[in-house]
Amino acid sequence: MEFGEKVVLITGASSGIGAATAIHFSKLSAQLVLVGRKENNLRRIALYCEKSKGIKPFTITADVTDDGDTQRIINETIEHYGKLDVLINNAGVIGMGGIKNSTMETYDDVMSTNLRSVYRLTMLAVPHLIQTKGCIVNLSCIAGTKPSTMALAYNISKAALDHFTKCVALELAPDGIRVNSVNPGFVKTNLLKGIGLTEDQLELFVKNVVGNMPLKKPVESDEVAALIAFLSSDKAKSITGSIYVIDGGSLLR
Ligand SMILES: NC(=O)c1ccc[n+]([C@@H]2O[C@H](COP(=O)([O-])OP(=O)(O)OC[C@H]3O[C@@H](n4cnc5c(N)ncnc54)[C@H](OP(=O)(O)O)[C@@H]3O)[C@@H](O)[C@H]2O)c1
Repeated sequence: MEFGEKVVLITGASSGIGAATAIHFSKLSAQLVLVGRKENNLRRIALYCEKSKGIKPFTITADVTDDGDTQRIINETIEHYGKLDVLINNAGVIGMGGIKNSTMETYDDVMSTNLRSVYRLTMLAVPHLIQTKGCIVNLSCIAGTKPSTMALAYNISKAALDHFTKCVALELAPDGIRVNSVNPGFVKTNLLKGIGLTEDQLELFVKNVVGNMPLKKPVESDEVAALIAFLSSDKAKSITGSIYVIDGGSLLR
């Protein structure tokens, strides 16, 4: 599986699953556009990617919740490479709380990052993806399928994203564009760092989550990256509108 000549744009490439995906695609010779807010982290991942095949990624420091920034992401990508083949909508945040104890700020923050930004960036990318008969992979979560009480806004953002994937896949199929979703269970990244737990509480929380996973181990970021790359490749040319779960068996319970 090689991506030489293919332009692959990854949001949230400065950390976790997005960073692992960037590194994975760099080994497949992709022309990368890496997007994130933390410039230093983005540069560090870009340098790492460049080491694999000597291909320098193009980095864009941007906030995907800002409409001006999403327009700039697409404009600069087209100015730099002249085209776009693969869009990976990975940037995401989690906000804690259920209906009794969350806030509208949490709702707005989570929905604007996990859903609105995907809607907007996809909308702006589609004219260019039509030209290349490209594809889209969205990063969702098993939390969009399985009800739970700790992160209501996050859960519903991912449930909506799954429906977005299917509706847009149907709409864009006549244009030859495929749209799929990768839905991990628990992966050790920086996602849970901002949820207000101490290091000890976080460790206990992770231990409980992993203990409840049938395979008793967290999913690794590079396993998720490999699945994203497969769905973005010609090997998946008949796959569209699909939700790919990678969760160590968590949804079986
Ligand atoms: N970890 C899990 O257990 C898990 C499970 C299922 C699904 N997921 C999904 O996987 C995706 C990646 O999460 P992760 O676990 O890799 O988390 P992470 O390590 O916290 O990475 C999140 C990435 O999203 C970027 N991001 C967040 N808000 C942004 C914004 N407004 N504008 C631009 N970039 C933004 C961050 O960039 P900066 O740091 O530069 O701001 C960072 O690169 C998310 O959609 C998440 O919901 C994760």
